Amino acid sequence: MNRSLEIKLKKLNRYYMNILIIFTGVVILSLGWDLYNESEHHKNSALEHAKNSFAKDMMFRNWVASHGGVYVPPTKRTPPNPYLAHIKERDLVTTTGKKLTLMNPAYTLKQLMDEYEGMYGAKGHITSLKLLNLKNKSSDWETKALKLFEGGQAKEFHEFLSKDGKAYIYYMKALVVRESCLKCHMQQGYEVGDIRGGVSVTIPMKKYNNDLYHEAYNIIAVYLLFYIAVIVGLFYTYKNLKTSLIEQNRLEEENHRKDEIMLTQSRHAAMGEMIGMIAHQWRQPITVIAMGANNMLVDIELEEVNEESIKEQAESILKQTEYLSKTIDDFRNFFRPSKKKEEVKLEEVMAEAEVIIDKSLENNKITLTIKDNNGYKVKTYSRELLQVFINLLKNAKESLIEHREKDRHIDVMISDDVDNVITTICDNGGGIDEAIIERIFDPYFSTKDEKTGTGLGLYMSKTIIEKHLHGMIEVSNTKEGACFKITIPLVEGG
Ligand SMILES: Nc1ncnc2c1ncn2[C@@H]1O[C@H](COP(=O)(O)OP(=O)(O)OP(=O)(O)O)[C@@H](O)[C@H]1O
Ligand SMILES: [Mg+2]
Repeated sequence: MNRSLEIKLKKLNRYYMNILIIFTGVVILSLGWDLYNESEHHKNSALEHAKNSFAKDMMFRNWVASHGGVYVPPTKRTPPNPYLAHIKERDLVTTTGKKLTLMNPAYTLKQLMDEYEGMYGAKGHITSLKLLNLKNKSSDWETKALKLFEGGQAKEFHEFLSKDGKAYIYYMKALVVRESCLKCHMQQGYEVGDIRGGVSVTIPMKKYNNDLYHEAYNIIAVYLLFYIAVIVGLFYTYKNLKTSLIEQNRLEEENHRKDEIMLTQSRHAAMGEMIGMIAHQWRQPITVIAMGANNMLVDIELEEVNEESIKEQAESILKQTEYLSKTIDDFRNFFRPSKKKEEVKLEEVMAEAEVIIDKSLENNKITLTIKDNNGYKVKTYSRELLQVFINLLKNAKESLIEHREKDRHIDVMISDDVDNVITTICDNGGGIDEAIIERIFDPYFSTKDEKTGTGLGLYMSKTIIEKHLHGMIEVSNTKEGACFKITIPLVEGG
C-alpha cells in the first residue's frame, strides 16, 4: 500500500470513527432524554391521581362541613363521637323517638377512608399535629409535611419513596381552618386561616412503574432498531468508499506508471536530437585524430620518424580525445535525471536547449532568437523543463523544414508578470491546422510518419508543465505560424 493511499484510508477511518462516536452520543443522549421524560410523565400521572383523590376527599369533607355535619343513627359502626362531646346537640332524638348522632367532616371522612380504601387505588389519611382523635396520629412522613405547612414553606408536598421494597407516591395537602370548622375545633384555639392539619394520600407506584417499564422497552427497541439500521448503512458506505479509494489509487498508480513509460519514450526523442549533436561535435576531432594517425603512418613509410613529430601528433590526438570526453560529460549532464527541484533562471535552461539543438537548426538554415527581460529564478525540475524546451524547438524546426523554404526563424521570449515567468516559443512555419489543434496534446497524436514522430512530445510537455511544475501550456496560431506559451508560477505550488 502506498503512502498516499494509507493517509487517505486513515482519514476515512478517522472520519467514520468520529461520525460513529457523535452518532452514538446523540442516540444515547436522546434515548436518555426520552426515558427521563417518560418517567416524569408517569410520576406526574401518579401525582395527578393523588391530587384527584385528595380533591374527591375534600369535596366530600366540604359537603359535610357545609351542613355543619350530618346526623346518622348511632350504631356500633358509628358510635357518638367522644371528641364532639362539647357540642350540646351531638345526640338528638326525633319526634318519633329515633336517636341520631352528629358526624363531623373528619369523622365522616375517616369512616369513608377506612371502609372504602382501595376503591380509588389510593389510601387517604386525615391527620394533624394537634389531634382531637389520637387514632389519627400522623406518620413520620406526614409529620414532616405538616411541619412544612405550619412553617409556611408549602401548602402541599409530595415524595416518591420506597417502603418494604415497594414504591409509593406520598402526597399531602394542608387543611386550612374555615368558618365551618370552628363548630368542632374552636376549643383547640384555632382561628380562620390557620393550618389545621392535612390529608395525605398514598398511592402504590406499581401500576405506573409497570407502564413505565413497558413504555421504556418500546422506546429502547425503536432506538435500537434505528441505531442498527444507521450503523449498517454507515458500514456499507464505509466499505464502498474504501473500495473506491483503493480502486482510484490503483488507477492513479497505473496512470503514473503509464506517464513514466511515456516520459521515457519522449525522452528518447529528445535524446535523438542530442545524439545528432554529439555526432556533429565529434566529426571534427575524429577527423583531426585520424589525420594525426595518418601523418604518423606516412612518416613511418617515408622513414622520417622523429621523436619531435611523434610527440606533436600524440599530443594533438590526446587533446582531441579530451575534447571528445568533455562533450560526453556535457551531454550526460543535460540528461541527468532531476529528482530535486532547483532554483534556475529559465533563460539558462533555454541556453542549454539551444546548445543541443543549435547545430541542427544551423544545418537547416533556421535562425533562433532568444530575448529575455526576466530577472527571476524559479524553483523547478530544470531537466524536465529542458526536455520541454527541446520538444517545442524540435517541433518548430520540423514544421519549418516541412512548410517553409527560406527565412525560417524561431523566436523565443522569456518575460514575467507579477506571479509567473512566461516563455513563448513562436515559429513562422505556417501554424497548426485548426481542425487538429485541440488534439495536439493528446498522447500518440502525430501528423508525422512513424520514424519522425511518436506523438508524445506535446503530451509529455503538458504533463511536465502542468503536473510536475504546476504551470500551464497553451497553443495559438499567429499570422506566420504556431506559438506556444508556457506559464510557470514564481511561488512554488502557486
Ligand atoms: N510548431 C508546430 N507547428 C506546427 N504543428 C505542430 C507544431 N508543434 C506541434 N505540431 C503538431 O502537433 C503534433 C503533435 O506534436 P508532438 O510533439 O506531440 O508529436 P510529434 O512531434 O508528432 O512526435 P514526437 O513525439 O516525436 O515529438 C505534431 O505531429 C504536429 O502536427
Ligand atoms: Mg514533437
